[in-house]
Amino acid sequence: MRWRGVIEQYREYLSVTDKTPVITLNEGNTPFVLCNNLARAINPEIELYLKFEGSNPTGSFKDRGMTMAISKAVEAGSNAVICASTGNTSASAAAYGARAGIKVFVIIPEGKIAMGKLAQAMIHQAVVIQVQGNFDEALTIVKSISGEYPVTMVNSINPYRLEGQMSGAFEVCDQINGYPDYHFLPVGNAGNITAYWMGYKEFYKRGKITGLPKMMGFQAAGAAPIVLGHVVEKPSTIATAIRIGNPASWKSAVVAASESKGEINMVTDEEILEAYKMLASNEGIFCEAASAASVAGVIKKNKEGLFTKGDKVVCTLTGHGLKDTEMAINLSQKPVTVKAEKGEVLRVLGY
Ligand code: F0G
Repeated sequence: MRWRGVIEQYREYLSVTDKTPVITLNEGNTPFVLCNNLARAINPEIELYLKFEGSNPTGSFKDRGMTMAISKAVEAGSNAVICASTGNTSASAAAYGARAGIKVFVIIPEGKIAMGKLAQAMIHQAVVIQVQGNFDEALTIVKSISGEYPVTMVNSINPYRLEGQMSGAFEVCDQINGYPDYHFLPVGNAGNITAYWMGYKEFYKRGKITGLPKMMGFQAAGAAPIVLGHVVEKPSTIATAIRIGNPASWKSAVVAASESKGEINMVTDEEILEAYKMLASNEGIFCEAASAASVAGVIKKNKEGLFTKGDKVVCTLTGHGLKDTEMAINLSQKPVTVKAEKGEVLRVLGY
């Protein structure tokens, strides 16, 4: 059967009616990949799965929430939406807004978003405003504007975003035919960990699963307000997607971690980049740096002896590596340039 996106797939769990115009790019149904190579390198006793959200239409998990947020905005008669973003939310809002035929305003931190994401917002004809500040400052402005003017905010504070993002947890349960022992994911504005936990609890309540995973959220060490217990005024990390010092869903992320007996922890940029490279070279999976914080978290917790034999561990890889080709190129061996002659090529190949 043709996959029709997360609203049609999980309609019974979402706040939609027959009157809701469904604005979809057929998001969801993303690959759920058993990663034995990576497990062998980290801990051969665990079953390690990656949920590759880079396969969504705009290349990140944001599409799951954006289909709901834009559909509900259109249903309510809104003709303009606004968001602050480290890049992926703006890319997704721009695409879904284009499909809905409404105006999209995106506010981003100048110079701190990956070029692929900026390109997406621009080509979908969003009005893009770069602020000389960080994401947290942009979000404060967006909240204020959406409170005063007829424009719908589509950041994850919008409850429909989180509802849609619950579908990530639903799919994991459907794909693993049960529930994992641990679910690792990167934490930025903390909406996704909140949404996954809501999703797992919803499936549990309805008897679709018989237990719940421990939620393991990982911030970048230079942008780890939840771990440190205070706002970080000047967050700093190479993982620009999660360069956030005052997460909007801070409290609910803490609740997700504590209710599930998981935790919010942090990994350094070095640990993130190591995981990013391992994913690409050992498993053929190209995610963005922020996404690799989840796998870096698995590596860190494994060293601390967290896992027992047979544990099912899921990592959400939140976005596609192609969003930021500069990062990949900077971290990789440069191509060799030779004359267009067979002998020259063979010399380099070592034959
Ligand atoms: N990974 C990626 C690739 C992201 O883009 C984000 C958030 C996260 C992880 C963290 O998710 O915020 O729900 O905790 N990106 C937002 C944006 C902030 O504007 O695109 P979160």
